[in-house]
Amino acid sequence: MSKGRLISFEGGDGVGKSTQIGQLESYLRDFGFNVVRVREPGSTPGAERIRRIILEGEPDDWLPMSELLLMNAARHDLIERIIKPALDNGSWVVADRFADSSRAYQIAAGELNPALAENVIQAATGGLEPDLTILLEFPMAEAFARIEEQGGKERRFETKGVEFQRKALNAFYELHERYPQRVARVSAKGKVEEVRERIIRLLETTFDLPMSAPNGR
Ligand code: TYD
Repeated sequence: MSKGRLISFEGGDGVGKSTQIGQLESYLRDFGFNVVRVREPGSTPGAERIRRIILEGEPDDWLPMSELLLMNAARHDLIERIIKPALDNGSWVVADRFADSSRAYQIAAGELNPALAENVIQAATGGLEPDLTILLEFPMAEAFARIEEQGGKERRFETKGVEFQRKALNAFYELHERYPQRVARVSAKGKVEEVRERIIRLLETTFDLPMSAPNGR
């Protein structure tokens, strides 16, 4: 049994995930937790290399199964080298995406055989699932407007189209239905502070904070 906690953030593209991850990181640090922040795909040298080949380029550069294998190659490296050791030493790991992204983007939107694809995920994770997954949600139209404003090279998934994004979003909602204890839906609407409050309230009830924090405030 690991001593630390793994929290993942998921959601469609363009919902302001990284801002909220930053907010949660400092909230947990203020309590005296060691916090390790990671992003998927990425966060180890090998996984960052995979990130570049998979997030740059044209939408159909990779088939869904190839994507699944690449994502999970990166995931395995990250879990073994960073996440497991961090959990073992009691750290809280906050992940910008985790295996649910493969379920939404590759399996659901990419229309892979779910049972076969789930085996690939299990091979990579060894069954590790987050203690809590925060599904940040935003009306599709507004999320798309934000995506349009974003520049940069890592836009392969953003350019796969509305139908692809819609399927992925629906898959996230189904994951919430299937695992209501683990996958929580949090509205990303409103000011940064308002969304932050929603997330903190969720954490307090899920993990009995602040009572269980190292400095117990
Ligand atoms: P990122 O730049 O982190 O975008 P976002 O801010 O939306 O998280 O890019 C990650 C992209 O990779 C995102 O579009 C989702 C996709 N992805 C998958 O398709 N499968 C996966 O398993 C993971 C981890 C990410």
